[in-house]
Amino acid sequence: MMTATRIQARSLNKQFTLHHQNGVQLDVLTDLNFDAQSGECLIFSGRSGSGKSTLLKMIYGNYLATSGSLQVKHGDEWVEMVAAAPRSVVELRRHSIGYVSQFLKTIPRVSTLNLVMEPALERGWSAEQARARAEELLSRLNIPERLWHLAPSTFSGGEQQRVNIARGFMVAWPVLLLDEPTASLDETNRAVVVELMQEAKAAGAAMVGIFHDAEVRQKIGDKQFNVSANEVSNHVQ
Ligand SMILES: Nc1ncnc2c1ncn2[C@@H]1O[C@H](COP(=O)(O)OP(=O)(O)OP(=O)(O)O)[C@@H](O)[C@H]1O
Ligand SMILES: [Mg+2]
Repeated sequence: MMTATRIQARSLNKQFTLHHQNGVQLDVLTDLNFDAQSGECLIFSGRSGSGKSTLLKMIYGNYLATSGSLQVKHGDEWVEMVAAAPRSVVELRRHSIGYVSQFLKTIPRVSTLNLVMEPALERGWSAEQARARAEELLSRLNIPERLWHLAPSTFSGGEQQRVNIARGFMVAWPVLLLDEPTASLDETNRAVVVELMQEAKAAGAAMVGIFHDAEVRQKIGDKQFNVSANEVSNHVQ
């Protein structure tokens, strides 16, 4: 498979201004430079509070960079996230960027199955196709069938996280962002998530992830970027 650059960050900076606390400024990310290619997994490491989640939110268009350039491939075009119109962010999220956040956003009365199927239905899959894929993922992630028709708001932390993962892997994303998806999972389910990530890589996703588990990092990571040290390395630890 041909590799292709899917994310390109150049001289990227992020500063937060705390308007309600005397305008105190926090320099979170300074002069970041990296590329993410299709079929590879780039791992962001660094101490707590160093800006790892902030970076994923910038790639997803939740946070705006203070300066620099952050481009994401959308079909044959590059979208500059530092200047993207809300409409193109919506389009990007529908077709080009998947995001497995740390916590599931549950919606009252929406069943687990419907929540997991949604990304596929938004892309025009038939209900049968979407349902078959959702059931396969929920089974692989060991969510008992009796829970599939319930809204996940009352599920345990680990169950909610697995529903979130099923939703994230429902369709093939050109860019897939993962914020500690294995944090509260047991070994069996961690291994399933590693398999899903390997399948997504083989299908050509450019993955960008944060993983606290060293074994997961070693199994899935191709390059590691230390946010605190501001350097990229081919050695994953
Ligand atoms: N919306 C915001 N407004 C102000 N400050 C913020 C905001 N979001 C994050 N920060 C600050 O930016 C810094 C980086 O936060 P971030 O969540 O990116 O860290 P992290 O590297 O993901 O940490 P952890 O490993 O604990 O998850 C923190 O000091 C945090 O307080
Ligand atoms: Mg974080």
